[in-house]
Amino acid sequence: MRFRIVFALVLMGVSGSVFAKSEFFDLFMSTYKISDSSAVGQKACLNCHVTEDDYTKMTSYGRDLKKGLADAGTNALNATILKTVGALDSNGSGKTNEQKILAGISPGDPGPADAKAPAPAPKPEKSLIPKNFFHPAVVHFPIGLFIAGLLLDGLGIFFKKPTLLIAGWYNVLFAAVSSMGGVFTGFGAMYVQKIPFKGLIFQHMGLALTSAFLMMMMVTLRVHRHEKMHLPTRIVYFGLAIVCFALISYAGHLGGAFVYGE
Ligand code: HEC
Repeated sequence: MRFRIVFALVLMGVSGSVFAKSEFFDLFMSTYKISDSSAVGQKACLNCHVTEDDYTKMTSYGRDLKKGLADAGTNALNATILKTVGALDSNGSGKTNEQKILAGISPGDPGPADAKAPAPAPKPEKSLIPKNFFHPAVVHFPIGLFIAGLLLDGLGIFFKKPTLLIAGWYNVLFAAVSSMGGVFTGFGAMYVQKIPFKGLIFQHMGLALTSAFLMMMMVTLRVHRHEKMHLPTRIVYFGLAIVCFALISYAGHLGGAFVYGE
């Protein structure tokens, strides 16, 4: 018995609300003398609602009506509210809602005001330190200095010019020092962007750290010795140089692949 009463109440509630909504529709149609076959008439509920799947999503015109209802402190639409909202240009098309309806255009069509509607994405915080921590810029120091150093050394050996060898030495030395900057900014960028320590980045880092370490070894082998390096030391030195060059090139390639995608 109690169930039936509840059921009857629910039924009344549902039909009541549907009745109320079809009242909105009927009033809208009769106020503007819209025929069922006209473009606006065909749109029916979709003059005010965006979709029949979800009646809570309103068109800009529907939203203005809802606001008009709230301002009038009622939930029953009436001709006055329709007229008030009719004088607005809800979708920003340049004509009032009423002018649109009388011209046979649905006031619920999307217009410039709807295009603007989604709130602009919040501006990313401006920071003096970019998210990449200057890593892409900084890594070019060790790479460039190292390659230039090897070239100068090669030319120095070829032309037997000690000045070129000294220049080569300083390039390799500064490459080793600046590689620490590359390591530091790389970790910084990973930390700031919460980049997981795996995949491409894992390989990139392994190669980069190894090449930085090899540069240090080269500097250690060469410092204070230079021309006085024994042949075995020279061989080891140039072996390290070749391996280091290969590692740097590949690390750079992986770093680029990570940033730009492959
Ligand atoms: C003239 C504009 C207009 C038309 C046409 C119209 N509605 Fe509505 N409808 C509204 C407004 C405004 C509300 C919001 C009422 C409120 O919140 O008090 C609403 C609310 C509703 C709701 C309640 C949604 C909720 O918030 O839960 C339903 C369901 C609904 N309408 C169905 C319909 C159906 C079905 C039709 C077509 C027969 C229709 N409406 C046609 C303006 C309209």
